[in-house]
Amino acid sequence: MNNPSLLILPGDGIGQEVMAEVRKVIDWLGQKRDLKFDVSEDLVGGAAYDVHGTPLHDDTMARAQSVDAVLLGAVGGPKYDNLDFSVKPERGLLRLRKEMDLFSNLRPAQCFDALADFSSLKKELVSGLDIMIVRELTSGSYFGEPRGIFIEDNKRVGINTQRYTEDEIDRVARSAFEMARRRNNKVCSMEKANVMESGILWRDVVTEVHAADYSDVELSHMYADAGAMQLVRAPKQFDVILTDNLFGDLLSDTAAMLTGSLGMLPSASLGSPMANGRPKALYEPVHGSAPDIAGQNKANPSACVLSFAMALRYSFDQGAEADRLEAAVESILGKGIRTGDLMQSDGGKAVSCTEMGDAIILELNATL
Ligand code: IPM
Ligand code: MG
Repeated sequence: MNNPSLLILPGDGIGQEVMAEVRKVIDWLGQKRDLKFDVSEDLVGGAAYDVHGTPLHDDTMARAQSVDAVLLGAVGGPKYDNLDFSVKPERGLLRLRKEMDLFSNLRPAQCFDALADFSSLKKELVSGLDIMIVRELTSGSYFGEPRGIFIEDNKRVGINTQRYTEDEIDRVARSAFEMARRRNNKVCSMEKANVMESGILWRDVVTEVHAADYSDVELSHMYADAGAMQLVRAPKQFDVILTDNLFGDLLSDTAAMLTGSLGMLPSASLGSPMANGRPKALYEPVHGSAPDIAGQNKANPSACVLSFAMALRYSFDQGAEADRLEAAVESILGKGIRTGDLMQSDGGKAVSCTEMGDAIILELNATL
């Protein structure tokens, strides 16, 4: 049998550096666990624009469609701020999401015990926090038509359209209910059914899917604004939060900040099963390209490493290896080995990105 295939797209800024550390983990799995991958690498975002004049070349798109999973670093940077909208680095990422039809975006917000002091909230509100946001990723106002900047009565008007079909809501709702069954069996769905028709339909369809197939899962609904408020008031009330593309963008950044450590948070974007039964999948850290520290060997590779752990779990049926990797990262934190983003001002010496990667490998070795 062929090895599973993995396309690596480091992208821009710290994407390059953190991905180099993931490579160490991939090599370790090959050598020590006899778990081998066919790894290829390509360009995305500004890095692709610099070479091809587009943030995602058609050949790269085709490769992404043909592999078992894609692992992406980060896209964007100040160098590209003035580019035309159509070729901005982010367009490359959005094209991957849309054309691979990655409708279910899983964004765990987990507060590591060793890091609870880093949250902007009181420690007791966040310690032990473990939320999963399931964000719809291929529709809603990010993609709805009509969109554009038009002229009306000699004045410009900017238009985006919030649009959801019932099938789009149905499939992401199922994904959230399935996720809840693997966790604490609770889903809170968030929309604005008090203001938006798309929100009314969202609530109706989620309720129908629940009644038909998931009545064992506890379901509640919240308006997204109230949800945002509850998320910072009492975040531990949530298990799975199901929401649309735009609200999910906002709520997941809020949830991420609760954990105090953007440098620790992974994500998975999943689509429908391919012929081999694996879901179409792209994994990426929640943090961005961090241009302020790019190229300085200061970045925290943990989020990207943990994104690869999600790939092991959701794409490659290697739950035990995913557990091992996650435990290694957590154990390192417990030992006080930290990159600069996780240092208190009096906290001693930060380790570099490469040192953090090496520490993860040492920790993995210790598990054998
Ligand atoms: C995210 C990011 C993206 C989004 C950008 C980079 C296009 O903010 O993944 O949350 O808005 O979805
Ligand atoms: Mg975002």
